Amino acid sequence: NIVYDIKGLEALRERVKDILGAKDIIVVPGNADTNPYVLRELGIAAGKVILSLLPEVKIIAVTGGQTVKEVVDNFPRCSFKDILVVPARGGIGQEVEKQANTLAASLAKKLGGKYKLLHLPDTMDEEIYKLIVRKEEVQDVLNDINNADMLIFGIGNAIEMAKRRKFGEEMIEKLKEVGAIGEIFGYYFDKEGNIVYSTTTVGIKLEKIKNIKYMIGVAGGAHKAEAILSLNGIKHNTIFVIDEGIARRILSIK
Ligand code: F6P
Repeated sequence: NIVYDIKGLEALRERVKDILGAKDIIVVPGNADTNPYVLRELGIAAGKVILSLLPEVKIIAVTGGQTVKEVVDNFPRCSFKDILVVPARGGIGQEVEKQANTLAASLAKKLGGKYKLLHLPDTMDEEIYKLIVRKEEVQDVLNDINNADMLIFGIGNAIEMAKRRKFGEEMIEKLKEVGAIGEIFGYYFDKEGNIVYSTTTVGIKLEKIKNIKYMIGVAGGAHKAEAILSLNGIKHNTIFVIDEGIARRILSIK
């Protein structure tokens, strides 16, 4: 019966919260790997958490990806006209609907707030990067990104993300050799939580996220369990919104 199920899920939530050492976690029923509707439920659940924190927030940074898109698509229309939404990083490497820029603009519309965009590719040569970040309009957005008090981010499997970003075979082999497991906004983590690779990304820097008051990590599908476990150094400061599939797999690994 339903009461039993809710209790089961609550016990699961508490155990996984302890294992992760997370600031908090929300677990929605189901597994997005086998039931795509679960991603929508994740989006709704994350939206509720975000909404409850908005009165304390001035700048929100968002990453790209399908999961964050579900958060934005299912977010209610409301009125927070002073909130600014920015993309957490460049991100022209993905389909336009899932790019951080697009999601930042859509979320700002839902909030009745403002947005700024970063019209830059996800990855670029070091030399070009150095030239571009000096531009005033880029500096302006980077400054806002660095002052974000909420970050809404997706979490990915390292190798899957490398393939999605069209890394070459050689690079993918290298990532496997160094043991890359999880990925968030261009940073690749190994099993112990060491950063084993990062893309030259214009946008949010890992060193800065310690200052972010609210970190909201959203992920669905059991196959992302290892990726979440790899995020050492971030877990304690993050509210994770995950599905039951991930939670059960984390429990079975640990
Ligand atoms: O590319 C942006 C990003 O947020 C990655 O950092 C993350 O690994 C991925 O998208 C998650 O994508 P999805 O929600 O589509 O699985």
